[in-house]
Amino acid sequence: MDRQYYLDILRGNGQLDYEIYLNTENLLACQKEPEDLCNPDELMFMIVHQVEELWMKLIANTLLDISEEMLARRSYKVLTLFRRVEICQRLMDKQLIVLETMSPKDYQEIRLLLGNGSGQESPGFRVLLKLPADLWACFHKIYLEDGKTTLEQIYDSQYSHDDAYMVAEALAEFDEQFQKFRHSHMQLIYRSIGVDAKSLKGRPVEILRSGMAQKFFPDLWQVRADMTDRWGASYGKKRQKLPPKP
Ligand code: HEM
Repeated sequence: MDRQYYLDILRGNGQLDYEIYLNTENLLACQKEPEDLCNPDELMFMIVHQVEELWMKLIANTLLDISEEMLARRSYKVLTLFRRVEICQRLMDKQLIVLETMSPKDYQEIRLLLGNGSGQESPGFRVLLKLPADLWACFHKIYLEDGKTTLEQIYDSQYSHDDAYMVAEALAEFDEQFQKFRHSHMQLIYRSIGVDAKSLKGRPVEILRSGMAQKFFPDLWQVRADMTDRWGASYGKKRQKLPPKP
C-alpha cells in the first residue's frame, strides 16, 4: 500500500472549498508528523485531547451565549443552548473511552514526552471551571429575581414546572455532566497509570477527588435535600414498613 499517497491527502492542503473553508491545512497540521511519533498510539492520544479541547471551546462559547440569553429571559433559547452543551458534555465523556485502547506500556512511552504538563492547564477546562459562577449570577438576577423568588418556591411550594424550573434543571444537568466527565477521567487514569499513582507534577492522582466532589450550584442540590427532609418530616428519620397486602 502506498502509505505516503494517503498521508499526503490527509495534509488537507488542497484547494477544494471544503479544505479552504474549514482550514483543514492548519487543523491537520496540529498533530506530530508520523516520523516524530514515539509510537502509533501517540497520534490517538493527541487527537483525543485536541478534540476534547475543541468541545470545551464550543461549550464555553455556548455558555457565554446562554448567559446573555438568560439576562434577556429568552428561556426557550436558553434551554436549546443548554441542550447543545449537554450533548457536547456527553460526547466529551464518551470519547475518553478511545484512550482505553492504549496499552499501559504505550502510554508510558508517550508520558515521557509530556514534560510536567497537567490537564488542569487545559484552557478550555480552566474557563469551564470559572463560567458557572457567572451563570449562577445571571440565574439569580433573572429567575430568582435577585432573591425575591426562592428555589424552594420554584421546586416545591409554588412548583409549576415553569421556565425558572426548567433553567434550574438545565444548570443542574450541566453540573452533573461535568462530574460524570471527572469520574470517567479518574477511571481512565486508574486504567492507564494505576491507582495511587503520582501525576507528572509529582502529586497523588487522588487530589482530583476534591474536584470530583465539587458542585458548581450547591443550592440546586440542597433544595432537593431540604424537600426530602420536609416531606419526610411526617414519618421522622425512618419509615415504617408498608401494611401487608389484604
Ligand atoms: C491516558 C489518559 C490520561 C491520563 C493518564 C491522565 C492523567 C491525568 C492526571 C494524572 C491528572 C492530574 C494532574 C495534576 O497533578 O495536576 C489529570 C488531570 C486532568 N486531565 Fe487528564 N489524563 C488523561 C487524559 C485526559 C484527557 C483525554 C483529557 C481531556 C480533556 C484530560 C483532561 C484532564 C483535566 C481537565 C484534568 C484536571 C481535572 C480536574 O482538576 O478535575 N485528561 N489527568
